[in-house]
Amino acid sequence: MNTVLITGATSGIGEQLTRDYISSGWTVIACGRNKDKLQELASIDTRVKPLEFDVSDDESVREAFSALPEIPQLWLFNAGSCEYIDKGEIDSPLISRVMDVNFTGVVRCVEAAQPYFKPGHRVAFVGSIASEVALTRSEAYGASKAALSYFARSYKNDIAASGVDVSLIFPGFVKTPLTDKNDFAMPMLISVEEASKRIMHGLSKNRDFIYFPRRFTWILRVIGALPYQWQAKITSGLVGSQGEQ
Ligand SMILES: NC(=O)c1ccc[n+]([C@@H]2O[C@H](COP(=O)([O-])OP(=O)(O)OC[C@H]3O[C@@H](n4cnc5c(N)ncnc54)[C@H](OP(=O)(O)O)[C@@H]3O)[C@@H](O)[C@H]2O)c1
Repeated sequence: MNTVLITGATSGIGEQLTRDYISSGWTVIACGRNKDKLQELASIDTRVKPLEFDVSDDESVREAFSALPEIPQLWLFNAGSCEYIDKGEIDSPLISRVMDVNFTGVVRCVEAAQPYFKPGHRVAFVGSIASEVALTRSEAYGASKAALSYFARSYKNDIAASGVDVSLIFPGFVKTPLTDKNDFAMPMLISVEEASKRIMHGLSKNRDFIYFPRRFTWILRVIGALPYQWQAKITSGLVGSQGEQ
C-alpha cells in the first residue's frame, strides 16, 4: 500500500489525480481549501484523507502538516493559480498573489513536510511548460513557474544525497477550471484524464522530468533553447494574446 499527498486536490488535475490514485489502490491525503469539495472526495473512499489548508497561509500550512493522517511516500505539490497581466500594465498585488501560491506556497509546503522526508520518498512539483519560454501576459504566472522550476532543480541537487528524489512536471494546456477562464486559443489542449495518466505514468517510472503533451512541450523546449532575441520574435502573440479564440 502506498500513500500520496496531493495539494490542490479539490479541482482540475489534482482532483483527477486523487480519483485515479484511489482507483489504483493508493491512499490519498487530499489537500485543499474547499471544505465541501474535500468532503465530497472523502465520500468516494475511506482511503481519501482530507486535509484542509491554504498554501498562502504560513500558520495554516504548519498546522496541517503537524496533523498528517499518515506519512506519504509521494508528495505531489500541485496547487496553483493563474492570473494574467493585461497590455503590459504591471500590477504588483496580482504578481504577489500568484507568486504566493505557485512559488512561496510550494516552498511553505516543502518546509513543513521536510521533517517527514525519508530515503525512497519522491517529491513532485507541478510546474508548467510556460516556465521554458517567456510568453505574453505571463509576467506573473510564467515567472512563478520559472521560479518553481529553478527551486525544484536546485533542491533536487541538494537532497539527492539523502535518498529523496525530486520530479518536476511540465504540463502544456490541460482543460480544467483554471484554463476554462482563458480568453485565447490553447494549442494542443488535452483532457484532465490524459494529464493525470501522464503524471502517474511518469512518476511510476521514477522520471525526474515529465513533459506532456509531447509534441507541444517539445516545440516550446526547442524554442526555449534558441537565443532570447529569436524566441521573442517567435513567441510574440503566439500564446496568451487576447481575443484569439
Ligand atoms: N491546466 C493547465 O493547462 C495547466 C498547465 C500547466 C500547469 N498547470 C498547473 O497545474 C496545477 C493544477 O492546475 P489546474 O489546471 O488543475 O487548476 P485548478 O483546476 O484551478 O486547480 C487548482 C487547485 O489548486 C488549489 N489552490 C489554489 N490556490 C490555493 C491556495 N491558496 N491554497 C490551497 N490550494 C489552492 C485550488 O483550490 P481551490 O479550489 O480552493 O481554489 C485547486 O484545487 C497548477 O499548479 C497549475 O499551474 C496547469
